Amino acid sequence: MKVMIVGGGGREHALGWKISKSKEVSSIIFVPGNAGMAELGECVKADSSDLEGMLKIAKDRAVDFVVVGPEAPLAAGIVDLFSENGLRVFGPRRDAARIESSKSFAKTLMEKYGIPTPKARTFTSFDEAEAYVRKLTPPVVVKADGLAAGKGVTVAFDIETAIEALSFCIIEKGFGDSGSRVMVEEYVEGKEISILSLTDGKALAHMSPSQDHKRAFDGDEGPNTGGMGAYSPVPFLDSETEAFIHSSVMEATVRALEAEGSTYRGVLYGGLMLTEESPKVLEFNVRFGDPETQAILPRLESDLLDGMLATLEGTIANYDMRWSSDYCICVVIASGGYPGSYSTGIPIKGIKAASADPKVEIFHAGTAIEDGKLVTAGGRVLNVVALGGDIEEARGLAYESVRMISFEGMHYRSDIGKDAFALDSEAKM
Ligand code: GLY
Repeated sequence: MKVMIVGGGGREHALGWKISKSKEVSSIIFVPGNAGMAELGECVKADSSDLEGMLKIAKDRAVDFVVVGPEAPLAAGIVDLFSENGLRVFGPRRDAARIESSKSFAKTLMEKYGIPTPKARTFTSFDEAEAYVRKLTPPVVVKADGLAAGKGVTVAFDIETAIEALSFCIIEKGFGDSGSRVMVEEYVEGKEISILSLTDGKALAHMSPSQDHKRAFDGDEGPNTGGMGAYSPVPFLDSETEAFIHSSVMEATVRALEAEGSTYRGVLYGGLMLTEESPKVLEFNVRFGDPETQAILPRLESDLLDGMLATLEGTIANYDMRWSSDYCICVVIASGGYPGSYSTGIPIKGIKAASADPKVEIFHAGTAIEDGKLVTAGGRVLNVVALGGDIEEARGLAYESVRMISFEGMHYRSDIGKDAFALDSEAKM
């Protein structure tokens, strides 16, 4: 089977790495891919907003199955277009993808079907939003309604910051049309986790839980990023809470979408806060998490491609999803300056030695080959992933490998999985 993977980051490298292990796969095409993916298959340049251009690539190369990594093409209707042209594609259609591409759609759905989520109100008028926010006690959360490349959420610890965020969205149009509608949401506290479930619109196969680290610096300090590291499984998620999330959040949401006439197929990502009251949904995404995927897939013993195909064939209830009991940790190495501005084209050294241990994988996020040399080509550059019998072993291996890699200005968090390690050690005492 010829598989095409759309995307060019660490998530897509991890998907390609896992899919390449399937016995059914003969070749993989990455659109556009990166230097790491080039070792697994052909990389074809294309603009991810050019759906017709990508359709031509898929048809010209007669691909049998398409996996879409990022949310933007899904929200733009890549599954609708490719399916109408006879291609088999993993992911939801545009109407179902609104669960990520419109925060107000998701919130209204959750409120209607009793899916636990923080309270919120939606505004299109700056004056009305400002008047509402001035009556609240901070912190408050301001969210652009549409897709904003992971930058649309502001956690405001004072009212002036919340009003600046409203102004940036509604008046300055900082996120274009995505911010012309804004949601003001209640701030909730707790530990945040990610649950990903494969679904054919009826049944769900829940993946092992993970935790992302969104802030740039150690101790959850600094600005929000796309994610600086992740680990799986999550020792502080008890089985009762996990079962509640599976049934009352993930399954309830797929059923709610079905009841609204939007069958959801693909992977559903729930970003949840474990509050004292109950787990509450902060966001849904319509694709695999990045970098959660990099920490989950090395633990998946089953064939991922079989699971993806089952979401199309309506047979996910029969998919045998098996997990290794190992811990897995992913440490993101980023460019100097990220998540702000950063340089690219900087030579990277040490990858070969860093990936020598069979328990270590290095997924490329933003890399390229220039004049035969591996160089940086993005904000998040590399994902160093290690497996271990416990989180201590996984952390030790991952950081040992991270320290073998060098490029000018690189930075990474040194505390990925630290909380989990503390809890895991406590549990063993
Ligand atoms: N790691 C957060 C996300 O994938 O949205």
